[in-house]
Amino acid sequence: MPSELATVVLAAGKGTRLKSDHAKVLHHAAGLPLVAHVLRAVAPLRSAKAAAPAWVVVGHQADLVRYIVEGFGARTVLQRPQLGTGHAVAQALRVLPRSVRRILVLPGDAPLIRTDTLRALLGLHRQGGYAATILSARLEDPAGYGRIVRSESGSVEGIVEQKLLQPDQSGLREVNSGMYCFERETLAAFLGRLGRDNPHREYYLTDVIALIRGQGGAVGACLAPDPDEILGVNTRAELARVDALLSRRKAEALMAAGVTLYQPETLAIDPDVAIAVDTVIERGVELRGATRIGRRCRIGAFSILENAVIGDDVIIRAHTLVYNSRVAAGASVGPFAHLRDAADVRQRARIGNYVEVKKSVVGEGTKAQHLTYLGDATVGRDTNVGAGTITCNYDGVNKNPTVIGDRVFIGSGTELVAPVRVGSGGYIAAGSTVTENVPRDALAIARSRQLNKPGWARTRRQKLAAAKARKEEPPMGVQLSNARQRPAKHAKKPALRKRRK
Ligand code: UD1
Ligand code: CA
Repeated sequence: MPSELATVVLAAGKGTRLKSDHAKVLHHAAGLPLVAHVLRAVAPLRSAKAAAPAWVVVGHQADLVRYIVEGFGARTVLQRPQLGTGHAVAQALRVLPRSVRRILVLPGDAPLIRTDTLRALLGLHRQGGYAATILSARLEDPAGYGRIVRSESGSVEGIVEQKLLQPDQSGLREVNSGMYCFERETLAAFLGRLGRDNPHREYYLTDVIALIRGQGGAVGACLAPDPDEILGVNTRAELARVDALLSRRKAEALMAAGVTLYQPETLAIDPDVAIAVDTVIERGVELRGATRIGRRCRIGAFSILENAVIGDDVIIRAHTLVYNSRVAAGASVGPFAHLRDAADVRQRARIGNYVEVKKSVVGEGTKAQHLTYLGDATVGRDTNVGAGTITCNYDGVNKNPTVIGDRVFIGSGTELVAPVRVGSGGYIAAGSTVTENVPRDALAIARSRQLNKPGWARTRRQKLAAAKARKEEPPMGVQLSNARQRPAKHAKKPALRKRRK
């Protein structure tokens, strides 16, 4: 099938105004590089008549940008040196297949654009029979954008860049989004005629519009229904703004779909996050990447979930971190818990405060409620992991596994020195350092025996009191809080700190 339409995304610029070492289009908003948002908006257009992939014009940090955009199915064309938006499109035209008759041009730095708006632009272009159609918007503050110049009859005559505005044009509010649809033949013909007579000495794509009009060609303009959609990122302040708008847009979609968000403006939610109905998200929560959350969950304030898969009826309490991990239905986690690296918390399990779970399975109904580290562990069902239990999974070279069966009781303060297994039904005395396997249903006590010295403490108190009364030095080995302390004879003098040269 010949592909009639191709998309060209301009992403070769350095982004000088960001003052960054990184290419502008690789800066992230809502968890994705700016250019990735653009490619995602374009992707659904391909299923229509247009079968060609998007072409991205790369230049600054070309290798890195190429690597990223190829991950989104795009092809690239190199623009070097970068001589302006008109020059960038010209490079793309040289490599587009002959079958491409129509070209959608998009800037790589405007991540809020929606597929439907692009469809409207393409629709108007086709219906109007235009040689070029501009997506425009009316902005309260048009600073920084090229302005659409219309004739008295309302027809589009050209685009004037901010720096070249005439005094009588300063009131123009309709701006150029930098998104256009062109007939390929017309575009090719006029790109060749662009000059560089402007403050940046660049070939401006925008100048093509006036050239087309000068030859009697028809130019259309499609007004974006939501002006935010065309916002571009030239500065850090604009980056922050589009990031917040993307999150806000996602929050609104979630609320419309039956999710409760308290103070949605305090949330950071990436576009691919999915949440089922009647889940409640408390304030200050960050939901990142491909996080999926089931029904009737509660995600506590200031928690961060990244690529988390959360079942139904889960409670995540405040200040909990979940990275690349799963929590099954009916489980609860937190507050102040940390799940990471494929932690797998099964149904109705309970992970409490200050518990870290790394690359471990926590079986159904199992509890680890306080101050625990489970790393590289597999814990069966209905097991109780006492407060302060630690898997000693790292021997300085390797990570070793701990396997704990079902209905095990692990006393508080246990250290499990991996590799080690605790059989189902086993019982570990509090404070044990377990270095050997514990058989099924066995009791393991792995700590030194307690020694009680009757009356020792009373005697000590009496000695101290007597010494104080005599204003003597306290007996050897005892320090009174107010006692004058002499340095021991063998104490070293504090070493003088070496001066830096
Ligand atoms: C451009 C438009 C302006 C419009 C605005 C919308 C021109 C001359 N001006 O201005 O009318 O209102 O976008 O956001 O087109 N790029 C290249 N190669 C280059 C130069 C730029 O690939 O040689 C890329 C950039 O990486 C960027 C995009 O083109 O993604 C737009 O360039 P930018 O410098 O941001 O243009 P603006 O000044 O914003
Ligand atoms: Ca821009």
